[in-house]
Amino acid sequence: MTKSIFISLSVCFIVSAGLKAQTYNTMTIPDTISGTTFNLTLKDTMAQLRSGNQTITGGINQNKFWGPTLIMYKGANVSFNVKNKLNDSTTIHWHGMHLPAVMDGGPHQIIPPGTTWQPYWTVKNQASTLWYHPHLHMMANEQITKGLGGFIIIRDAAERALALPRTYGVDDIPVVLTSRRYDASNQFSFTTVAYGDYMLTNGTPSAQISLPKQYVRLRILNAEIERGYDVGFSDNRTFYIIGNDGGLLNAPVSVTRVKLMVGERVEILVNLSNDQIGSSIDLKAYNGGQTFGFPGGEPATSGQFGSLLNNTTFNLLHINVIAATPNAITALPSTLINNTYWTAADATISRTVSITDGNPGPGSLPFRFDNTAFAFNTINKTIPLNSVEKWTIKNNNVFGHAFHIHDVEFKIVERNGSATAVGSHESGWKDVMYVPNGESVSFVAKFDDYSDDIHPFMYHCHFALHEDDGMMGQFVVSSSTEVLKQNKIEVPFSVYPNPAQDKIFIKFESDAVDVYYITVYNAGGKAVLMLPAPDIQKGISVSELSKGTYYLQLMDVKTKSMSVQKFIKN
Ligand code: C2O
Ligand code: CU
Ligand code: CU
Repeated sequence: MTKSIFISLSVCFIVSAGLKAQTYNTMTIPDTISGTTFNLTLKDTMAQLRSGNQTITGGINQNKFWGPTLIMYKGANVSFNVKNKLNDSTTIHWHGMHLPAVMDGGPHQIIPPGTTWQPYWTVKNQASTLWYHPHLHMMANEQITKGLGGFIIIRDAAERALALPRTYGVDDIPVVLTSRRYDASNQFSFTTVAYGDYMLTNGTPSAQISLPKQYVRLRILNAEIERGYDVGFSDNRTFYIIGNDGGLLNAPVSVTRVKLMVGERVEILVNLSNDQIGSSIDLKAYNGGQTFGFPGGEPATSGQFGSLLNNTTFNLLHINVIAATPNAITALPSTLINNTYWTAADATISRTVSITDGNPGPGSLPFRFDNTAFAFNTINKTIPLNSVEKWTIKNNNVFGHAFHIHDVEFKIVERNGSATAVGSHESGWKDVMYVPNGESVSFVAKFDDYSDDIHPFMYHCHFALHEDDGMMGQFVVSSSTEVLKQNKIEVPFSVYPNPAQDKIFIKFESDAVDVYYITVYNAGGKAVLMLPAPDIQKGISVSELSKGTYYLQLMDVKTKSMSVQKFIKN
């Protein structure tokens, strides 16, 4: 089921200083795709983001900057066709999702141009706001800058049982924060640009929205390259945090500001019941006067670490209050869900990751973990399946960072050794945490359900430039029953029917064999289909391939050896 909400971007411009009336553009609400099958086509496109030339962006389906919101249900078996029609290779990572490493879309699952990647999994996460984005090593900055990404909303029974706003685009609004710098011909600048000069909210410059006079839910995501946001409302009203990265909190937390670093999400409720119809209020970034180390607090207005928005307070979203909807939510729930969080005492293994290097000066190295840059062939940590671990990220360095880990949602248990120093705004399940300069921050997580000795998960700074520069490590979750044999033997199999029209099936000569990965290449040696752990009972659809000769390369689960068979598509 595809529901499209198209709100066209009528581009108006703030003419020049001196003009009093501020003009706004109606904020785009991303289209939604709901259900169990998600088709995403990535391609280069263009968007009119400001006056003059259009800007080359990365589009997903019809969306020209920032893709559709994927709505899925806990317990569902979801499958994806991710088609790369970009001119570059890419990957798509499901940020925050608990899933097998081979489906994770990290830097290892490279989708070449023209190839379709078909991951699938069972949704185990609880109701939450996740997101997806490219994760190609050394290209993350460029591809995220171009607007490739989107929200994932997971729904479940516990969330549904609560009286919360959940009508998408009406009282439940996705809000993605990015800022961009343009060159003289209106193209995004990426090379070593940490901070943009102009705000885009859901890809809309000077964004506004009409919201009903009632409690409204905003799902705010910082999808920046590096900038942090200190979010609040222009009248300093209290609002309520109901969810962190990994889902709802136990109870709403009232605040007037919330800091949001790259990759972090926060779900908030704001009460507009007492606002006049026709009045307006602004959601703003109170980034002026932050101390050094807050990303975007640097005072320069240009250059690599400067920007027109740095160290200033600026608008994120202009909100016009309109009449309440029927069935409006008019009360704040006093409690939400019952989370059972890990505590430091639950952890049986402790690890420390230190933030090193990155000091300015001649011959300096980029920021790294433990003096080691990311390398594809180095597994930095091996984690026993089901282990509950305490990780401490130590930052004695010069700047703040946003630490992210794949596979798990964690509980922040200590800041600088103190449990009470953990903010109530970050008291729920998290997958990104702010590690300011001079702090060590600890989390506890359980690495359950999925083990794989070949495909690692990543941990990294979510600042795209830091990640691309090697501030990233990888871990495998290993089960002792899984013995990786290095036997490079052929596992004989056949493909039938051959020639085939719609579907092909695999038959192994011996029974006890299963498939770990299949890649289908055309006669020119180009990958056209990538199938992590396909269910070979169901067959593999080849209906979209053009007629010709193909080579199916199969890696089996036990020996992890590769075998190839040729087949014809008719
Ligand atoms: Cu949001 Cu490794 O990523
Ligand atoms: Cu991630
Ligand atoms: Cu960093």
